[in-house]
Amino acid sequence: IAAVDVIRAKRDGERLTDEQINWVVGAYTRGTVAEEQMAALAMAIFLRGMDAGEIATWTGAMIDSGSRLSLAVDRPTVDKHSTGGVGDKITLPLAPLVAACGAAVPQLSGRGLGHTGGTLDKLESIPGWRAALSTEEITRQLNEVGAVVCAATEGLAPADRKLYALRDVTSTVESIPLIASSIMSKKIAEGSAGLVLDVKTGSGAFMKTPEQARELARTLVDIGAAHGVATTALLTDMSTPLGRAVGNAVEVAEAVEVLRGGGPEDVVELTIVLAREMLALAGLAEVDPARVLASGKAYETWCRMISAQGGDPEAALPRPAHVHVVEAPRDGLLSRLDAYAVGVAAWRLGAGRARREDAVQHAAGILLHAKPGEQVSAGQPLLELHTDTPGAVAGALDALADAVEVGDRAPTRPLILETVR
Ligand code: URA
Repeated sequence: IAAVDVIRAKRDGERLTDEQINWVVGAYTRGTVAEEQMAALAMAIFLRGMDAGEIATWTGAMIDSGSRLSLAVDRPTVDKHSTGGVGDKITLPLAPLVAACGAAVPQLSGRGLGHTGGTLDKLESIPGWRAALSTEEITRQLNEVGAVVCAATEGLAPADRKLYALRDVTSTVESIPLIASSIMSKKIAEGSAGLVLDVKTGSGAFMKTPEQARELARTLVDIGAAHGVATTALLTDMSTPLGRAVGNAVEVAEAVEVLRGGGPEDVVELTIVLAREMLALAGLAEVDPARVLASGKAYETWCRMISAQGGDPEAALPRPAHVHVVEAPRDGLLSRLDAYAVGVAAWRLGAGRARREDAVQHAAGILLHAKPGEQVSAGQPLLELHTDTPGAVAGALDALADAVEVGDRAPTRPLILETVR
């Protein structure tokens, strides 16, 4: 097999054979297919697409480019993945909640890039907490605590790490076959028996429309089925941030509120709905996550999960050096608070990074003093911008210029749009 023949076949709209796919992904990982050849193939796939069979094989080849995590765990394993949003801290209350309900949650997570936050960046605002664990540490923590949120181990789907960096610089990220195989290769290699996907749609999401989100959800669920992983996807709204905190430490604080029985309604609702789906896949449908949350057991599990990774769950979280308040422009109902704009503003305040090697500010972020549908009065605090670099405020305010609308009507978009099985 020669790379040029594989590229030409896809360029001309042909279906790639299993043999071609397995060869090209393996050879690319080893370095015998050149970057420029994979760049051309990625663009051909972007333009021509792949069918369900090709996507399943491509995903398998990405998994086989590295090693699978083999977890010796007694409890049923189940994981959740979000396609990324603004204020999406759901993993933080969800993983300990589902563990407290009796399942094991091995959640290998990423860092934020661009306007969407990363779970590891948030957790690193807890003094002492560390993201890097060995396979032995992951297994031990799953058996002793039931939940692990940590960085992906080195050998997991190395083809994806290489290919994602290439897609980033060749404008081939936004391809459903490439996104879906990228997500699922990492999740399947992680070895969990069940997987619930939170596919976001709206301005703050990768998939701006419900139609695109539905197609991604279908593709992800089909890949799971082809690889023997029970997979369910929910389509959920990301037109406005989740909860009332966007950033790093502020999101941890909000997650802790939820675990202690409080917190914003939307965060609680999505946490419970995702927990129910995860428990159903784990064969624990009879356990009611709302009751377990109310009992305090999920909070206890959170404390043990954080301590097991060196963190102090009781420690004070970092505070920002500078706070800037944005006031409501007039009386009325908050009719729009745009997720993308708030995500970009938080990123500019220092909560996110522009390049992979940049550090994030743990105290940076935004607090929302009102959510869409709530009554506001002129001059009341609407947004609280947190940063250690006051010079960043002007850029954040620029990003927020058209983000807020105060009017007469509340938006009616539901939080959970549909379920794809
Ligand atoms: N997240 C991933 O892991 N991969 C993609 O391609 C896009 C989002």
